[in-house]
Amino acid sequence: MRILTGLQPSGKLHVGNYFGAMKPAVELQSEGDCFYFIADYHAMTSGRDGDALRGNVRELAIDFLACGLDPEKSVFFRQSAVPEVNELAWILSTVCPMPLLNKCHSYKDKVAQGISPNHALFAYPVLMAADILLYDSQKVPVGKDQKQHLEVTRSLATKLNEIYGEGTAVMPEAIIREETELIIGVDGRKMSKSYGNTLPIFGDEKPLKKTVMKIKTDSTPVEEPKETEGSTVIALYQLFAGESDVEQMIADHKSGGFGYGDFKMRLAEAYWDYFADMRTRREEILADPGYVDEVLKKGAEKAREEASKVLDRVKRAVGLI
Ligand code: ADP
Ligand code: TRP
Repeated sequence: MRILTGLQPSGKLHVGNYFGAMKPAVELQSEGDCFYFIADYHAMTSGRDGDALRGNVRELAIDFLACGLDPEKSVFFRQSAVPEVNELAWILSTVCPMPLLNKCHSYKDKVAQGISPNHALFAYPVLMAADILLYDSQKVPVGKDQKQHLEVTRSLATKLNEIYGEGTAVMPEAIIREETELIIGVDGRKMSKSYGNTLPIFGDEKPLKKTVMKIKTDSTPVEEPKETEGSTVIALYQLFAGESDVEQMIADHKSGGFGYGDFKMRLAEAYWDYFADMRTRREEILADPGYVDEVLKKGAEKAREEASKVLDRVKRAVGLI
């Protein structure tokens, strides 16, 4: 089974990204033949700082490897290292009806956020379809926000097959991660860079633990029982702590006699410990600067090999060769 997903290089990884995207991707490595890439072309639709892009790509590669991406099991590469994707994107553009893109809410949302409405932003779903179809991907794990883009991809695969013959494109299927959909941030809203409410997964101990101390709580006195429903501290603690520790924290809320400071300390410890092995792995990777380049280079070679086979098939079907 061919599994593929892309992640945009957009700054420091947070706990929401880890549980929502990285962890599921790492776990899927035992289920099939995984292709994971850093969507640097896509990142250009919302940022125009070359140094920042270079830095973010490197950072994401290091973080993904530290989180358990195994280059022996998966093909890991930068999107732009396989320029064939642009050729396929053009071919897909020729079968893509304008209304299909006009419907996409991600474009409208981004424009509403103030991102300049350029052509690449509008054509974003076509490039994403090319990413997916270029590797004959069967399963595409994504967050709920990408569901519509997968529908566009399926429509374009259908078009290609209707116009140029069955078998021109392989029909992909989304795997939507519902259960991890909403990791909440320190203010109780969805954890997101744009809300400034994130818990980073890598960083120095003091500032990381300090973010936990900022979690909003009510003013129930230490000795009184505390509400467990809707508690941000408990919700986050469940991500990092074992079952018995979570039960203990819930019991301590209900009994009273424990302050929020105490609960937050427990959370800060569990959060710090949870990423310990990944931090160590990250230090090892950082100590060997050539390693990441080597992994991405080998990944790109393997990806291009696969991509050129599929592109060849499509080019034959449409009459370009
Ligand atoms: P942000 O909202 O911080 O900008 P991105 O949109 O770059 O995050 O998300 C990258 C990936 O991480 C996506 O696959 C998305 O589904 C996942 N993700 C981001 N935030 C969360 C969250 N709070 N809960 C679950 N998954 C998340
Ligand atoms: N648009 C995706 C996101 O922002 C990233 C992405 C680009 C992607 N190409 C892809 C995801 C192909 C899955 C498959 O999260």
